[in-house]
Amino acid sequence: MDAKTWRAIRLAVEAEAAFGIDVLPKGPKIPVPVDSSTASSSLAPLNDPPISPAKVEPRAQVAPAADTLLRDASSTGKSLEDIAAAVATCEACSLCETRTKTVPGQGHAKARLMFVGEAPGYNEDQEGLAFVGPAGQLLTKMIKAMGLSRDEVFIANILKCRPPENRVPRPEEAQACFHFLLDQIDAVNPEVICALGGQAANNLLKRSDPMYQLRGKIFDFEGRQLVPTYHPSYLLRSPHEKAKAWSDLQVVMKLLALPTPKAS
Ligand code: URA
Repeated sequence: MDAKTWRAIRLAVEAEAAFGIDVLPKGPKIPVPVDSSTASSSLAPLNDPPISPAKVEPRAQVAPAADTLLRDASSTGKSLEDIAAAVATCEACSLCETRTKTVPGQGHAKARLMFVGEAPGYNEDQEGLAFVGPAGQLLTKMIKAMGLSRDEVFIANILKCRPPENRVPRPEEAQACFHFLLDQIDAVNPEVICALGGQAANNLLKRSDPMYQLRGKIFDFEGRQLVPTYHPSYLLRSPHEKAKAWSDLQVVMKLLALPTPKAS
């Protein structure tokens, strides 16, 4: 058997062990930088060995329009509490009429890693918390497999309100909501963003690419590294893809110079 086949088998077995059962290896904690000047001190140097199989992609070429939501480097300086308060009273799109609770997102205020999903579902809408339903439980396992806990990362969505019947976000909804996510990225200042699914990746990158073209690449997002991977809901429906997601998460771990968790 060749090396490629062995790697595919190893990833499949590891992913099954990591995402498929409740008992997971306990890993190291992400070192949280004290201030922005130390934020990247534990990052591997840029000339580290290449991360396989991902390759770095330049930022999408998006013509800067008046309504573009990509901003210059200046921070808005809003706190996560301010952003959540603004989300709570937002009426910028019709989703405010059908939501139960707004779901701003939650996690470590200075996380080095931010996960971005699509939109709240039923459970999230009821609880006001991102990724707490079945997809959230799988995301928790994925995070644990990386040797981390949910408290050490930040978890947010493109939309802060649930679309009725969990339909996909409409472009005008994503556009109306996007400034909240940009403010959260400013506030948390993560080094790596892991986009969960095509909606998250394409909205962030202003692309409209299929997932098979997005995966396996590292994108630049306003000076941060963005790694797309499959959405946990998709993995629940297509468990045979877990190995690819595990491979993506290992890329994230390498970017953050996180050690491989050891089974305890
Ligand atoms: N799916 C998402 O994209 N986000 C959530 O918060 C829950 C499910």
